Amino acid sequence: MTAAGRKTRVLVVDGTGRGHAICDLFTRTDPDVIVYYGPGCGVIKHDRIRPAGGVTLDNPRTALEFLRANPMDLVFVSNIDALSRGYVDVLRCFGYPVIGPTQAAAALESSKATGKRFCAQHGIPTARFRTFSDPAASLAYIRSQPYSCVVKADGLTLNGDGAVVCETTAEAEAAVRRFADELGDAFRVVVEERLYGQEISVFALLDGSSYVLLPTALDYKRTFDGDRGGNCDGMGSIAPHPEEDETLRAEIRHQLLDPLMRGLSAEGLDFTGFVYLGAMITPAGLRLIEINARFGDSEAEVVLPGITTSFVELCRAVLDRRLGQHRVDVDRLHRCSVALTQGGLDPADPAAPPGWPIGEFVTGQPVTGLAAAEASPQAQLFYGHLALSADRDPVTAGGRVLHVVGSGETLNEARDAAYRAAGHVQFPGCRYRHDIGAVRSLTAADH
Ligand code: AMP
Ligand code: GLY
Repeated sequence: MTAAGRKTRVLVVDGTGRGHAICDLFTRTDPDVIVYYGPGCGVIKHDRIRPAGGVTLDNPRTALEFLRANPMDLVFVSNIDALSRGYVDVLRCFGYPVIGPTQAAAALESSKATGKRFCAQHGIPTARFRTFSDPAASLAYIRSQPYSCVVKADGLTLNGDGAVVCETTAEAEAAVRRFADELGDAFRVVVEERLYGQEISVFALLDGSSYVLLPTALDYKRTFDGDRGGNCDGMGSIAPHPEEDETLRAEIRHQLLDPLMRGLSAEGLDFTGFVYLGAMITPAGLRLIEINARFGDSEAEVVLPGITTSFVELCRAVLDRRLGQHRVDVDRLHRCSVALTQGGLDPADPAAPPGWPIGEFVTGQPVTGLAAAEASPQAQLFYGHLALSADRDPVTAGGRVLHVVGSGETLNEARDAAYRAAGHVQFPGCRYRHDIGAVRSLTAADH
């Protein structure tokens, strides 16, 4: 409720499974909030999650128009496409109470060179790196290094495939050539030392000067079972991360988040909302791989459902810059999410589109079994690229169609619940990994 005694109204700007999980967090932890979600997902059926008509990710003016017609108590922007276009700057300029990093702060994610420079400058441990805008110079550097490299396109990429983790010099050279072909004159890459260890996804909520650390997660970024294939946006996650304990949480605070906050302040970067640090637990200690200016997707689907503190209250504390006085309570259950993706329709036909994220994919496929999956014990669904057909039936609309989440007292229970529910959902070309939560996602030399 607001001070005036009416329901709190929130606009969430996103259109992914993460956005759905944020809407769910608002409504689940506050019975008196109504969430408007744009561009959102028309398939969501919830009396307090409503469409925010006309709001798009690529143009903040669409949100201005919506807000003029529909006054909101708070706007939460959680999608990097919107953040990197200065959504927060524009809405704030017009006086709206908005949570999310400004365009300059979001560049920590939208430009890898900026993120790496920031780490180096503010004492955040990270892999050795150099930035290049000349392919020949980057090739010469790769050949001169004694270690395996990761080659990263500087800017945002469509399917999370902008980082090529290489074992050999030849692989790294091929990655440079691929980016040179794809980017042309805009060629700009970061070449960094490849790290070995176990990845961990770290999340915190920031109010601009202080933060609260949330539970950690393990993301399965590789395309195929057994951690094979290239990196993609993620095929599923588990939370908490199997290595999480109080010692690790203290290291995360002291080695990653405290220097991050000092760096933001030193550079005058205005960062409110969720930060997501992709890190690696290496034999030499924690190393930061990437700074992201929003929650991870599919990690949001396993971390946010465990939060029991009112998210409206936390957001009010963010806007008033008094988050330091708050703590975030969690239910301490394990969760496992499995991304159901739009794979190829005919794997036997080599000429047919191979499906996401391997290559081209066909959308508009009818999706059935959602209600049965939702009714499955200890299961929850978050909708990503799912849309309504002309007949108002759910159809696929992109790569990661939906995320099926299971919860339980143990990881195995959570995993079983997720796969049991996933078994109810069907659509042509449905592809998912069968080993989320069963193997440890390692960046090991044999991959
Ligand atoms: P990024 O594009 O920086 O978000 O990286 C995407 C993914 O590539 C990470 O989540 C890791 O799985 C992998 N990766 C990135 N940098 C490294 C590194 N230096 N060593 C090993 N793996 C990495
Ligand atoms: N799960 C990886 C990402 O959100 O980028």
